[in-house]
Amino acid sequence: MGYDAKFRVWRGDLDGGELHDFTVPVNEGEVVLDIIHRLQATQAPDLAVRWNCKAGKCGSCSAEVNGRPRLLCMTRMSTFTEAEVITVTPMRTFPVIRDLVTDVSFNYQKAREIPSFTPPADLKPGDYRMKQVDVERSQEFRKCIECFLCQNTCHVVRDHEENKTAFAGPRFLMRIAELEMHPLDVADRRDLAQDEQGLGLCNITKCCTEVCPEHIKITDNALIPMKERVADHKYDPLVWLGNKLFRR
Ligand code: SF4
Ligand code: F3S
Ligand code: FES
Repeated sequence: MGYDAKFRVWRGDLDGGELHDFTVPVNEGEVVLDIIHRLQATQAPDLAVRWNCKAGKCGSCSAEVNGRPRLLCMTRMSTFTEAEVITVTPMRTFPVIRDLVTDVSFNYQKAREIPSFTPPADLKPGDYRMKQVDVERSQEFRKCIECFLCQNTCHVVRDHEENKTAFAGPRFLMRIAELEMHPLDVADRRDLAQDEQGLGLCNITKCCTEVCPEHIKITDNALIPMKERVADHKYDPLVWLGNKLFRR
C-alpha cells in the first residue's frame, strides 16, 4: 500500500547548502532513487542526482541515507518505517558539485597512479593456464562497480582532507593487491603501496567491507594479504640483509 513519506534532502553546492523537507508519495516496492525521481518530477525539477543503471551495477547513485553510505537504487523503502524521516545527503568525503552529486575525480587520480598489469615480456598467448583459485581471487575483486562507497567511508580520508594525497583508499589498495597476487604479474608494487599509497594508514577497521554493495571482502582478502606481503618484504631480516648487500 502507498503512503506519504517525509524526506529531508540536502541541496546546495561547494559554497554551502541545507536540508530541505519534502512530503512525497511512496508506492509498494520502490527504492530511494524512485522517490528522488518523484521529487524531481513533482516538486524539485532542478534537484541534481547522478544515476544510470538503476540496477546496482553502474556505481553512479552513491550517496548517504540517514548517514549511511548506500546506493540509492538498491535501498528499498521497505527498509524504513512509514513514520521515519529519511535524510538523503551527498557522499561526505568528496567535494559537492550540486545537491546529491559529488566530484569523485580523487578516485580517478588514484587509479592512474597504479602501474597496470605487467606480464613477463616473453609470455606468448596460450603459454600459461590460470589455476582456478587464481581466477576466483581476481574475480572477487573484479566485481567492483566503482561506486566509491568504500572510499567515502574509510575514516582515514572521510574527515581528513589532508590525508588524501598520501592514501589511495580501500578500492585502489585492493587493486594493487589484485595485481600483486596475480600469478603472471611481474611488477613489484609493495613499496608503492606502503610508501606512496598509504597502506600503513589502514588500521583494518573494515568499514569499507561493511558498505561494499558487491560484498567484496576488501579487508580480509585484499588489504590484510597486501600488508603481509609488505611486511615480508620490508621487515624480513634475510630480505633486509639481501637488500643491503645487493642494493635491490
Ligand atoms: Fe564500491 Fe565495493 Fe568497489 Fe568499493 S570495492 S568501489 S564499495 S564496489
Ligand atoms: Fe579504511 Fe577499510 Fe582500512 S575502512 S582503515 S581501508 S579496513
Ligand atoms: Fe547504477 Fe544505482 S543507478 S548503481
